Parts: sequence; structure tokens; C-alpha cells
Amino acid sequence: MKINLQNSSLRISAGLPKQFPTDPMPQIAFSGRSNVGKSSLVNSLLTRKNLARVSSAPGKTITVNFYDIDKKLFLVDLPGYGFAKRPPEDKKKWAALTDGYFTNNKNIDLLKLVVQLIDSRVGITEDDRMMIRFMNETELPYAIVMTKVDKLNKTELCASIEKISGDRDLREGTPIVQYSSLKNIGKSELWSVIYEYCEA
Ligand code: GTP
Ligand code: MG
Repeated sequence: MKINLQNSSLRISAGLPKQFPTDPMPQIAFSGRSNVGKSSLVNSLLTRKNLARVSSAPGKTITVNFYDIDKKLFLVDLPGYGFAKRPPEDKKKWAALTDGYFTNNKNIDLLKLVVQLIDSRVGITEDDRMMIRFMNETELPYAIVMTKVDKLNKTELCASIEKISGDRDLREGTPIVQYSSLKNIGKSELWSVIYEYCEA
């Protein structure tokens, strides 16, 4: 697949499932807790500074953002989970959007891969585990991206890799990519994984 990454734009910031685009293009979704680095990752993959909004206050906007990449692929920035201080109406909105994307989605076959982000300093949280188990049960393809690896020294990074890669809930053969949006670590590796799943 030949993609011009320069030709990318925000198609829609959907606040309701009925706004999700239905174009027959493969979708790659980015899932993870608030503040884990989803929007930064999307910007980094596209070599753009501000296409995806990076939050100073985590979990502020609850939308599903579809980035159209050269009319060939959607990168889907999902709303983050696990933000304890959210008001109940936000939680409702989050649940409706997530449910609309993963379980009530007529176009679910367009979803080729869920990129599940895990903060390399924190490891797999209970919320992450729920998501991973859900993907195991529903047989959704996923890859793990360990974010913010620039914040760890070598020893800490090795320990984090060991812990995550040995996690009992990860499906066998799950790709694990170490990433830093700040230092552009892991970018070509993650693109290879994305292309592989798009073409599968
Ligand atoms: P929500 O939209 O709230 O769900 O958060 P998000 O997952 O999109 O996280 P976002 O990309 O907004 O990043 C959250 C914070 O982490 C920001 O302050 C970023 O600058 C920081 N951050 C993201 N990626 C990296 C990274 O690779 N290294 C470092 N050091 N900081 C990062
Ligand atoms: Mg974000």
C-alpha cells in the first residue's frame, strides 16, 4: 500500500455513533487510558504537530476522531478511559461512543487493528486488562504500544518490557512496539505493523 502521509486531515470529531464515517477504508483504532499518549502518537505517526489535539487536561473532549489518511486509511483516536474525576454524563457519553464503535458497529469489519496503548511507566492497569480481555473474547486483532519510553532508563525499560510481554492476558504473538512520540522512537516499526494488518 502506497500512502501519502502528507495528505491527511481530520474527517470528523464524532460525538455520536451515527456520525461515524462509513467509507470502505480500513480503520486502525487507538485505544488506551486518558493521558497515555494516543493523540500524540497519531501526530507522531503523521509527522504532524497539531493535527490531533494533545490534551493538557486529560479526557476533556469525549469524541471519536477519524483522521483520513490519503483516502486510503482511517486512523481512529478513541476517547480515553480511566479518568476517575469524570462527571457521570461524560461516562455515559464515553460508554455510548465506545459501545457504538466496538459492539454496535455495522462496519466493524473495516477495523483492521486496535493499537492498544500502555504507559511504559505504569504497565497494564485494570482498565487496560478489561479492554484486552474484551478484544480476546471478540477476536479483535490488536497490537500493544508501550508509550513514553523516553521517560525510562534502560533498566526500567527492560523491566517494563518483561512485565508487559509476560502478561497472562495478552494473546500469543501480539506485536509489542516500544514508542516515544517525543523522540520518534518506534515509528517505522509501528507503521510496518499497521500496513501488515491492513493488507491481511
Ligand atoms: P486523552 O485525549 O485525554 O485520552 O489523552 P491522550 O491519550 O490522547 O494523551 P495525549 O497525547 O494528549 O498526551 C498526554 C500527555 O502526555 C501530554 O502532556 C503529552 O505531551 C505527553 N506525552 C505523550 N506522548 C509522550 C511521549 O512519547 N513522551 C513524553 N515524555 N510525553 C508524552
Ligand atoms: Mg487525546
